[in-house]
Amino acid sequence: MAIVTQPLRDEHRELMPELEVLEEAATGAESANAPQLLARALDFLQGHLIPHAQAEEAALYPVVDRLMGAPKATATMRRDHVEVGRLTEELAALRGRWKGTPADWTDARRLLYGLRALLVVHFAKEEEVYLPLLDEQLSAEEGRAMFAAMEEAATAAKAAARADLA
Ligand SMILES: [Fe+2]
Ligand SMILES: [Fe+2]
Repeated sequence: MAIVTQPLRDEHRELMPELEVLEEAATGAESANAPQLLARALDFLQGHLIPHAQAEEAALYPVVDRLMGAPKATATMRRDHVEVGRLTEELAALRGRWKGTPADWTDARRLLYGLRALLVVHFAKEEEVYLPLLDEQLSAEEGRAMFAAMEEAATAAKAAARADLA
């Protein structure tokens, strides 16, 4: 039998290796190409990860709230997303004023390792707690409708992110 949440599992599989970009940027922060490493990390965060989080908040978390029978069941996960957004903004500001000083390197490593650790745990919580619940309780039809709504929200969020960066 097909797994209802397979599309989200696939998307996470695609995002996961990108977390290594954060680790690479952190370990390479002292190299001459630090600005490029930071640009790549920010591109992943602002262009892919944050739109993914916004799509979850629009289309996936409300379904989890309903299935758990508690309107605020996903509040702690939304709070993780807020923190990812905050750290990403700090990283973008650091990139804007980057001079390659030891203080810049320390800041970059703090932010990149912090983001990576937060995201690894956040992905694990979604996969280990939410997805089994959805697989158990959603019909294939409900799953398709949920992912169509998520796709639409992600496309809108990506367009908005591009407009912001332009
Ligand atoms: Fe999430
Ligand atoms: Fe996710």
